[in-house]
Amino acid sequence: MQLQLITLVALLGAIASASPTSGLFSKRAITCLKVGQTATATWKNAAGKTCKWTGTVGSNFGANSANGGEYSCNGRCGAGCTGSALGNVYTQDCFSHDICSWFNNASGGASDANCGAAYNAAVDDTVGGLVAGCSQSNPSNAASKPSGQPTCS
Ligand SMILES: *[C@@H]1O[C@H](CO)[C@@H](O)[C@H](O)[C@H]1NC(C)=O
Repeated sequence: MQLQLITLVALLGAIASASPTSGLFSKRAITCLKVGQTATATWKNAAGKTCKWTGTVGSNFGANSANGGEYSCNGRCGAGCTGSALGNVYTQDCFSHDICSWFNNASGGASDANCGAAYNAAVDDTVGGLVAGCSQSNPSNAASKPSGQPTCS
């Protein structure tokens, strides 16, 4: 999940000024994931198909030469293991976006045709995951590209 810090700051301001009934937190759920567990990433691609891929939370795919992204610590809200973030938060929506982004060489965050919706779904996790108790220690896994492809139907 590659969110710029400035986006985070802007969102925090928006949430701070939102009323309890209209805030982001009332509309979306944050599901924490544990580093090392198996999880299934799910997203809807540009063709309208639902794609799934199952793998390990915290896995490290290494660098993606197509989009310049760093795919260490998959599932962490924030770029790779070290990108700006509030805590080291691992959630379902951030995992789904990371995996979507890797396989689609996504760029542009919310504007990406395949992964924009997954990006938007992960914004509240990125902002609120620390408070939700999803922060933990980052793993240090060696980079290893995933085998297999997502299935989309
Ligand atoms: C992503 O980039 C890689 C490397 O250039 C390429 O092999 C792959 O087909 C691209 N995937 C998509 C979905 O465009």
